[in-house]
Amino acid sequence: MPPPRPLLAAAAAALLFLLLPVHLALAEAEGFRGFSYLLNCGAAFPITDSRGLRWEPDGPYVSAGTPGEPTIPGPGSLLEPTLATLRTFPNRPRAKFCFELPVDKNRRYLLRPTFFYGAFSSSAPPPPAFDLIVDGTFWTAINTTDDALAGAASSYEGVFPASGRNLSFCLGVNPEYTDAGPFISALQVIQLDDSVYNATNFNTSAMGLIARTRFGSTGDIERYPDDSFDRYWQPFPDSKHAVSSTQNVTSADFWNLPPPNVFNTAFIAEQDAPLVLQWPPMPLQNDSYYVALYFADTLPENSRTFNVYINDYLFIEGLNVTSAGLSVFATQWILSGLTSVMLKPVSPSALPPLINAGEVFGLFPVGRLTYARDVRAMESIKESLRNVPEDWNGDPCMPSEYSWTGVTCDEGSRIRVISLNFSGMGLSGSLSPEIANLTALTNISFAHNSLVGGIPDLSNLSKLERL
Ligand SMILES: *[C@@H]1O[C@H](CO)[C@@H](O)[C@H](O)[C@H]1NC(C)=O
Ligand SMILES: *[C@@H]1O[C@H](CO)[C@@H](O)[C@H](O)[C@H]1NC(C)=O
Ligand SMILES: *[C@@H]1O[C@H](CO)[C@@H](O)[C@H](O)[C@H]1NC(C)=O
Ligand SMILES: *[C@@H]1O[C@H](CO)[C@@H](O)[C@H](O)[C@H]1NC(C)=O
Ligand SMILES: *[C@@H]1O[C@H](CO)[C@@H](O)[C@H](O)[C@H]1NC(C)=O
Ligand SMILES: *[C@@H]1O[C@H](CO)[C@@H](O)[C@H](O)[C@H]1NC(C)=O
Ligand SMILES: *[C@@H]1O[C@H](CO)[C@@H](O)[C@H](O)[C@H]1NC(C)=O
Ligand SMILES: *[C@@H]1O[C@H](CO)[C@@H](O)[C@H](O)[C@H]1NC(C)=O
Ligand SMILES: *[C@@H]1O[C@H](CO)[C@@H](O)[C@H](O)[C@H]1NC(C)=O
Ligand SMILES: *[C@@H]1O[C@H](CO)[C@@H](O)[C@H](O)[C@H]1NC(C)=O
Ligand SMILES: *[C@@H]1O[C@H](CO)[C@@H](O)[C@H](O)[C@H]1NC(C)=O
Repeated sequence: MPPPRPLLAAAAAALLFLLLPVHLALAEAEGFRGFSYLLNCGAAFPITDSRGLRWEPDGPYVSAGTPGEPTIPGPGSLLEPTLATLRTFPNRPRAKFCFELPVDKNRRYLLRPTFFYGAFSSSAPPPPAFDLIVDGTFWTAINTTDDALAGAASSYEGVFPASGRNLSFCLGVNPEYTDAGPFISALQVIQLDDSVYNATNFNTSAMGLIARTRFGSTGDIERYPDDSFDRYWQPFPDSKHAVSSTQNVTSADFWNLPPPNVFNTAFIAEQDAPLVLQWPPMPLQNDSYYVALYFADTLPENSRTFNVYINDYLFIEGLNVTSAGLSVFATQWILSGLTSVMLKPVSPSALPPLINAGEVFGLFPVGRLTYARDVRAMESIKESLRNVPEDWNGDPCMPSEYSWTGVTCDEGSRIRVISLNFSGMGLSGSLSPEIANLTALTNISFAHNSLVGGIPDLSNLSKLERL
């Protein structure tokens, strides 16, 4: 298992919204297929952005937190209206605050949270840093300091399996980072088609984006509506090798469904010389990565054959690229530090190699979830009580350090709730009889609350030691 990512891991794909061009033409937005959400956090009304995408207020999906605005709006919020509001959460150590989003079980979802605390100077206290959690999975730590100094927002992107009827996306208060509560400006959740990234086993792994690049492009970021899932393909200019052409590639011929426009630019090697790219452009920690590379010949009725090396290891031998295009990928390729990608012609006189686009994701383990019967019992207990803690959302036990306030669990072959300590929480309402289904309970304490109704029959709780 790879270690948890450190703060400001290279995995953070920070986007400088200031550099985004304003699209003046309002595209007629058809919206996304399937269960998808565009949430403008802290907003009171829906808004439509410059791309014609409609963003809804996040209120219906989150029970904690307070709507607010960035401390100093900064120029970023002029270009991206979703940055004009945010939601802030209390600074309660080891609490997780969750968005609960109904999804289609067994599908997978692209998540893109965006964070903009406000422009700030180096003399001011830095923006809060915190953890991101999806269902029981620890995703990454969020540190927006460097982007905030540049007046920009920070965006992260991950691909996660849906394991239940709701997907929970949570911000976790980590007292080791900063002494302040988390915040969020916007959240996109987009259902992917089943073939997209299907080489990855999402039963065990989730993916965090490191780079998604369109080689040879000097233009705009390629994204929705050209990309059906609003993936962002960043330009990667280089005057020496860049070419552009008009391609006739069909997106559906590729499992990952790249937008056809990414094949309209390329890097082409010089005759009889290899093409060497330092890409992705940031150092990586020693770990396993998902790598996908996309190619299509710029000339019709043509083909060119070459080898691809990554850090001097042969990645693909004798790749035969035609104008129909092809993609190659590795689901678990070890990378460490800076990465070099080299395309080398197979025979000296052959047409020089080319490359159009690429994606790199970090892989991390999908976290376990609490035993489903215990989850149902906890939901029922939550329903029958009033004034429950704001962090009673998401999985009751997982990730380990982020169980619900007052709940202690055991991570054996099944993850079970073993102790409920609700003493002094100011709860009211009644205690659900479903507590009798928490058969692994050893300790229960309800002291100093104002509960009504009787104590349910606990005779089935054979492990109970302390009431
Ligand atoms: C699922 O999500 C909806 C919408 O946020 C919420 O109303 C509901 O309580 C959630 N269900 C569970 C079990 O969390
Ligand atoms: C966040 O990033 C800044 C700038 O890189 C760094 O100085 C700071 O220590 C980081 N914060 C945490 C909590 O790691
Ligand atoms: C991925 O999806 C494609 C298109 O549906 C299918 O042909 C292929 O077998 C799938 N690959 C895996 C590993 O499931
Ligand atoms: C993932 O889990 C599902 C449901 O348990 C199973 O049908 C499928 O075969 C698993 N896929 C892999 C690649 O293990
Ligand atoms: C990366 O980690 C592996 C296993 O932990 C180790 O064998 C290898 O030497 C490391 N590589 C580098 C470049 O640090
Ligand atoms: C794309 O199609 C057009 C018209 O059919 C054709 O003229 C052009 O050569 C094709 N380009 C490629 C790269 O195949
Ligand atoms: C590459 O593919 C094209 C089209 O399928 C074919 O005509 C050509 O012979 C192939 N080249 C090599 C070197 O295999
Ligand atoms: C239960 O929680 C209260 C308040 O947080 C604490 O004082 C007490 O020690 C806890 N009891 C047990 C048995 O953990
Ligand atoms: C315990 O769980 C079972 C199955 O989910 C359910 O049918 C039953 O009503 C629950 N028992 C109590 C006392 O709520
Ligand atoms: C349960 O209570 C016993 C006795 O007070 C205590 O020793 C034990 O640590 C408690 N267990 C949990 C999980 O709180
Ligand atoms: C206790 O467990 C038995 C067997 O699972 C079940 O039939 C009974 O209804 C349970 N009693 C209560 C009060 O939950």
